[in-house]
Amino acid sequence: MAFLDACGLAKKYESGNASVEVFRALDVSVERGEALAIVGPSGIGKSTLLHLLGGLDRADGGTIAVDGRNYAAMSNDQLARFRNDKVGFVFQFHHLLPEFTAEENVAMPGWIGRMPRGAALRKATVLLEELGLGDRARHFPNQLSGGEQQRVAIARALLSDPVLLLADEPTGNLDVETSERVFEVMRRCQERRGLTAVIVTHNPELASRCDRVFEMKRRSPSDHVREI
Ligand SMILES: Nc1ncnc2c1ncn2[C@@H]1O[C@H](COP(=O)(O)OP(=O)(O)OP(=O)(O)O)[C@@H](O)[C@H]1O
Ligand SMILES: [Mg+2]
Repeated sequence: MAFLDACGLAKKYESGNASVEVFRALDVSVERGEALAIVGPSGIGKSTLLHLLGGLDRADGGTIAVDGRNYAAMSNDQLARFRNDKVGFVFQFHHLLPEFTAEENVAMPGWIGRMPRGAALRKATVLLEELGLGDRARHFPNQLSGGEQQRVAIARALLSDPVLLLADEPTGNLDVETSERVFEVMRRCQERRGLTAVIVTHNPELASRCDRVFEMKRRSPSDHVREI
């Protein structure tokens, strides 16, 4: 079994009497240490897939196993703990906490995971430096540019040394040079610790530098996903 193995995934959103079937029978697997890029048009279900893979939402059908753990067999509490210990999430809209500084936002998962306050802050500082934000550590999110906020969110996702990084357009607001820097930091984590990464991106350059590209594409209702 692959490190991440999703099989026959189905997801529908129901609201009132309207229902949106995002996908059905979607298979995707990622080997340990691999970087998989997910590409596809807006609205195809990339963020939805990432949320399912990270255990933030439950699938309506199919199975997901990460590092040998089957999500369907876990309670919501167990899944939340697994997520906190093992998964780093970079959201499409970065969700920084406005009343905390950059370094406090980055340290937050460590504090939640009971890492000592000082140790988490030191680690946060190192990550921010690696991402070119050493001199912005004490700034609040509203004092940072969009791309700087995005890098803070990336540092936060890496703080707890996740085994799985799920990133939703992590370089969406970044210029070429800064995207490069972010990509290098993710690569270094892969080399050092065998981090497995799934990265949603509209950036063809970034996608081509991942180990594999998974294209989500609507063909017929039951078959809209293929690999390239
Ligand atoms: N909470 C929700 N309720 C109803 N429909 C939803 C909900 N969230 C997403 N959708 C629909 O599901 C589909 C997939 O959405 P998703 O956000 O996964 O797309 P995406 O591929 O990430 O798009 P983008 O590239 O624009 O970020 C879209 O048609 C969207 O309108
Ligand atoms: Mg999206």
